[in-house]
Amino acid sequence: MRVHIVTYGCQMNEYDTHLVASELVSLGAQMVNTIEDADFVLVNTCAVRGKPVEKVKSLLGKLKKEKERRGLRIGMMGCLAQLEEGQEIAKRFDVDVLLGPGALTQIEKALAADSKFWDLAFHEELNRVVAPPPAGALSAYVPIIRGCNHRCTYCVVPRTRGGVEVSRPPELILEEIERLKAAGVVEVTLLGQNVNSYGNDRPEYPSFAELLRMVGELGIPRVRFLTSHPVNFTEDIVRAIAETPAITRYIHLPVQSGSDRILRRMAREYRRADYLRRIETIRDYLPDAVLSTDIIVGFPGETEEDFEATLSLYDEVGFDHAYMFIYSARPGTPAAEHFEDLPREVKVERLKRLIEKQKAWSLEKNRAWVGKEVEVLIRGDAKETGFAEGHDRGNHPVLVPGDQAPRPGLYRVRITEASPHLLFGEVTEVLHAPAPREAVA
Ligand code: SAH
Ligand code: SF4
Ligand code: F3S
Repeated sequence: MRVHIVTYGCQMNEYDTHLVASELVSLGAQMVNTIEDADFVLVNTCAVRGKPVEKVKSLLGKLKKEKERRGLRIGMMGCLAQLEEGQEIAKRFDVDVLLGPGALTQIEKALAADSKFWDLAFHEELNRVVAPPPAGALSAYVPIIRGCNHRCTYCVVPRTRGGVEVSRPPELILEEIERLKAAGVVEVTLLGQNVNSYGNDRPEYPSFAELLRMVGELGIPRVRFLTSHPVNFTEDIVRAIAETPAITRYIHLPVQSGSDRILRRMAREYRRADYLRRIETIRDYLPDAVLSTDIIVGFPGETEEDFEATLSLYDEVGFDHAYMFIYSARPGTPAAEHFEDLPREVKVERLKRLIEKQKAWSLEKNRAWVGKEVEVLIRGDAKETGFAEGHDRGNHPVLVPGDQAPRPGLYRVRITEASPHLLFGEVTEVLHAPAPREAVA
């Protein structure tokens, strides 16, 4: 069987795609790069905003036609699959296999079934799978916790990935990272909706701060983590980062809004002042930390004054980067059911103003790196532009001339130029650029 997987959404979905692909390969399937070459197409879906849902629908429309023409099998996995909204869509587009984010280990059964196969249960096996490293990769994801205990009023994630946080056993996490290291991986990213809740559900497990220290000792040069929640981003975590050289100084701490009135409506459990105190602690221990955030603009009821509070918070923190989203009313969420959506023009206009603010800060922050040396992980070969792309320990995208970084690896780079979204540099030293290896299937 020839399988093609299309992935939408966040890093969790990227990891899940890798997991399912390696499972499929071990079952004898061949992974192919296009829909045309495949006889089974799996769509790994996202439901966080309206846009990714629209993308899934238009792809499924195309697949359904293809199915009618030449008898293709269609699969749907990921967050949208878990929601009623997604199941309606699956029926409409004649989807054969539907697997929720907790049911990925059922892929073998799904393939063996000769009629439609739907599974939306959360199977505990997921917690035991140790995925082999992706072929030849230098960077890999490692899930450490799944689900979310919070109930932000706009968000579908607790319904898609589970409404109770479940930490992964520490010995599995450490074993998986050891394996990745043995396979040549130099950067791991610890994944979870709220990584800093790690261990809260299991008193016998280490805390997130302790886990960071344990992972930091394994000899992987770079360890990152995503995403943290401000409410429990405590001082012991900041101290663990400061005292563990392998942990990168990149902290993504979604604030969502700078207005207490809106934070309350969102049911975020902290207020502006609490968030600013967290930032102060980070700056105390990690003056060189690179800070990024998520912001939702145009949440229902957001006034001009509330929005200005977000702008002023941005100035107070001076974020290096931000992911900015227009509020999207999601079916079944309390915000969509109880609050009235703002006019689209208002939301778009505010997003534009926030983007201006973000650009100005990113340019200023990025310029401060010019003349400095950073360590860049080059992920692939040079592009047609002649530049090879990578990212430094602060997660800045960095471009270097392709002839200076002919292979994926770790390079020391002197930054020569900055734009709001990119750093440019020259390689001063090759730190670790292994010769291409045989792909590990
Ligand atoms: N667990 C993480 C992130 C979850 S989703 C956290 O709580 O920080 C990633 C981001 O998508 C969120 O931080 C939020 O900014 C955005 N988001 C979630 N639901 C949204 C919605 N309905 N409309 C617009 N943006 C949304
Ligand atoms: Fe969604 Fe809030 Fe949970 Fe993040 S913390 S996943 S935004 S409910
Ligand atoms: Fe990620 Fe989208 Fe699910 S952002 S957690 S794939 S809803």
